[in-house]
Amino acid sequence: MSQEKAIVERLRDRRDLTPEELHVLLTAEDCRTLKETAREVADGVYGKRIFIRGLIEISNHCKNDCLYCGIRRSQAGVKRYRLSEEEILSACEKGYRLGFRTFVMQGGEDGWFDDERTERIVRSIREKYSDCAITLSLGERSRESYQRLYDAGANRYLLRHETADKGHYESLHPKEMSYDHRMRCLQDLKEIGYQVGCGFMVGSPGQSEATLYEDLQFIRRFEPQMVGIGPFIAAQGTPFEKEENGSVERTVRLLAIIRLLQPRVLLPATTALGTLDPLGREKGILAGANVVMPNLSPVEHRKDYSLYDNKICTGDEAAECRNCTEYKMRAIGYETVVDRGDYRSE
Ligand code: 5AD
Ligand code: FES
Repeated sequence: MSQEKAIVERLRDRRDLTPEELHVLLTAEDCRTLKETAREVADGVYGKRIFIRGLIEISNHCKNDCLYCGIRRSQAGVKRYRLSEEEILSACEKGYRLGFRTFVMQGGEDGWFDDERTERIVRSIREKYSDCAITLSLGERSRESYQRLYDAGANRYLLRHETADKGHYESLHPKEMSYDHRMRCLQDLKEIGYQVGCGFMVGSPGQSEATLYEDLQFIRRFEPQMVGIGPFIAAQGTPFEKEENGSVERTVRLLAIIRLLQPRVLLPATTALGTLDPLGREKGILAGANVVMPNLSPVEHRKDYSLYDNKICTGDEAAECRNCTEYKMRAIGYETVVDRGDYRSE
């Protein structure tokens, strides 16, 4: 048996791996067994069904200054926008007609979306769309705020941990941001009862096999319902503009490893993956991802939500992204489904 095969079998059966095994999986010439096994495991849990989420980018204002991000506070030349409550609700309406049963409200950390306003929006979506899941991706907030939004009807929260290595975290973020606070937020979200998503960029500056190993161990311990990973993509105008992009192949292998560590996890093939490779999302699905998140934001603001360069889908209407996703998934033997797509605990 090849070394890869033996490691993959152990990973599948014991749901764990050593740093040496991770090294082999990340550096082996070809990792077909890893990807195929991860896909079989995903098929075993979710079948040939891919969950879709309608992504609504509600604001590109952000008080933070993360070194990698194209909408960081100090980034010049960004046309800042916020969607009105009406625009958000109309995006949901369009999304519902297109078959989305999860809406993801994502935005920078923007004080305009305070608890009162955000709570009101969540409540209106909850009232109109009782059969839909509401996912929030609005960064770090107080526990009280997370609780209010949960009570108003939000079900899921995405907050990437970015890296589970404190020193690495500090090299990606300005001094005002704290690793411990981010971890505190993730813990609060979980305790409140959200389905929680953490995640990281693959190939962020300073990342190593050792920090990736810590990311995987963090995922094992934290047991998130969702994990979002995508390649780091340099954004012009940021301190990391000259850094090398993350690798598509490495991202795909990590998706496969995460599927084997947490067989039931909801795992998106991200837009960043599709940006670096026109077949990136398909490759992600074929290595165990089971979610895609087409964009529902009004086209007039799409290009202003550029976390990184050359982001795809910035000119496409919601319906085009919806059709394109369906077509791409069909082409590889998968169906997108009209479903909330909740985490299956058994
Ligand atoms: N490349 C890839 N991903 C990025 N993100 C932010 N900036 C970049 C970039 N330059 C990711 C972060 C964040 C999520 C919303 O987008 O991981 O949590
Ligand atoms: Fe947006 Fe393909 S998913 S155009």
